[in-house]
Amino acid sequence: MEIVIKSNADAAATLTAQLIAARVRAKPDLVLGLATGRTMEAVYTKLAALELDFSRCRSFNLDEYIGVPPTDKHSYRCYMDERLFDKINIVKTNTHVPDGMAPDLGAEVARYELLIKEAGGIDLQLLGIGEDGHIGFNEPLSALMSRTREKALTPATRRQNAGMFGGDPDRVPKRALTMGVGTILEAREIVLLATGPDKAAILAKAVEGSISAMISASAIQLHPRCKVVLDQDAAGALTQRDYYDWVFQNEPEWQAYR
Ligand code: GLP
Repeated sequence: MEIVIKSNADAAATLTAQLIAARVRAKPDLVLGLATGRTMEAVYTKLAALELDFSRCRSFNLDEYIGVPPTDKHSYRCYMDERLFDKINIVKTNTHVPDGMAPDLGAEVARYELLIKEAGGIDLQLLGIGEDGHIGFNEPLSALMSRTREKALTPATRRQNAGMFGGDPDRVPKRALTMGVGTILEAREIVLLATGPDKAAILAKAVEGSISAMISASAIQLHPRCKVVLDQDAAGALTQRDYYDWVFQNEPEWQAYR
């Protein structure tokens, strides 16, 4: 794992967009794993502004609320269309978000796993982190080998995501479909972005603490090709910052991003 600490949230989002852009340029038929949440909004704005060719790319989103139609502005499908897909030249039918309205959710999660497999797996998975350490909607105690499935959201997650539901946690759905931790770990590369002081404590536990099902994001420690991009605030509780900074300033692979 490599940790890059940028001066502010905007610079962290820029670096994340640059990393994605580099992979799209290197492999025009890249299979992207995408995340939602407030943190990613700046990344998608910047990515769209780069005017890359996404015409051969395919994408798979991490998760979707159950019972929220794709046309509803609270759905992650709508989030992705508005913030990214409608602004780039990706073919909409090549963008995939789990269908939280599917009559048979068991069949839907199996279909989603199969689609990822048929696409040849995910090349680059973008991740945020919830304040309880979730990636996707893998809430505490999600099995580290879990696959795409239905998951109940914690009251804390519903409170954190209330902003997108007019500030009312009761309006946030109680359940979601999410890629599993095991599904996420199969991506060939992972980039996790976290910004802001609210993420500092959980981020430090996830990357410098023990691997635990209590903190799903800690599973990225198992991944051989994983980058964590932070701003100063989100990096606030890390103990080895000097080392991470030294690596970023000196290792050749970061030269283009310094
Ligand atoms: C949501 C999403 C996650 C995201 C997280 C952080 O619950 N399911 O994929 O990483 O929240 O969101 P934010 O960036 O708004 O803090």
